[in-house]
Amino acid sequence: MIQLDNVNVYYGESHILRNVSFEIPEGQALCLMGRNGVGKTTLLKTIMGLLSPRTGRVSFGGQDITRETPERRVDRGIAYVPQGREIFPYLTVEENLRLGYESSGSPWRAGLGRSVFEEVFELFPKLPQVLGRAGGVLSGGEQQQLAIGRALLGKPRLLLLDEPTEGIQPSIVMEIQRVIQSFKNQRRFAILLVEQYMEFAATLADTYIIMSKGSIVSAGQTSELSEEHVKQYLIV
Ligand SMILES: Nc1ncnc2c1ncn2[C@@H]1O[C@H](COP(=O)(O)OP(=O)(O)OP(=O)(O)O)[C@@H](O)[C@H]1O
Ligand SMILES: [Mg+2]
Repeated sequence: MIQLDNVNVYYGESHILRNVSFEIPEGQALCLMGRNGVGKTTLLKTIMGLLSPRTGRVSFGGQDITRETPERRVDRGIAYVPQGREIFPYLTVEENLRLGYESSGSPWRAGLGRSVFEEVFELFPKLPQVLGRAGGVLSGGEQQQLAIGRALLGKPRLLLLDEPTEGIQPSIVMEIQRVIQSFKNQRRFAILLVEQYMEFAATLADTYIIMSKGSIVSAGQTSELSEEHVKQYLIV
């Protein structure tokens, strides 16, 4: 569904992503791991179209999207939950959700688009209880649920998640794991998950890649992933 071929990305003269190639078939989740600063967020931004590769190709559903705008990619069904859960702190939960829905390119129906909202409320039962609250006063875990719920409103075909468990307590991590799992089971779509928490990654993802200094240094099935193997690349 999503495929990268020899992607090279620079910030000015800094060569960040080096010949990155991989594919995520429909229905699968891939976990991307690597130390701080190896280029994980840069990779997600490149897939979203917020950064342009100097060379290489990004394909989605068999079509070359390398030069397409982020808006066009949203229309195609790519959704991005950025690192640090970037919700609008001064807007209410409902306003955050509505904005997510409108900007997803989904046709805005009369009223609230209830049924679409209800699907997300079923996944995150906490959200309908806090609709009138400002996003900024929610707990970190609630903000992450809002950010993921907002991304799911547009019924994406590819979900990009940047460290969804960062700084979140275990019970909410389980909640998020459950939601992503059920979403994965009921829909034919792909997930690219950046994650350092190995258990979470191994539960949700089918395959993994590990990056070091902008290159892929290890790849395979998560069922074959061992703590020792990950440590070798993740600990300095
Ligand atoms: N806007 C920018 N301009 C210049 N360099 C940048 C910019 N954003 C990131 N970098 C650099 O690019 C490299 C990769 O950054 P990136 O954010 O992709 O890493 P990461 O793997 O997501 O790290 P983390 O685990 O800390 O989130 C880092 O060295 C970073 O300092
Ligand atoms: Mg990052």
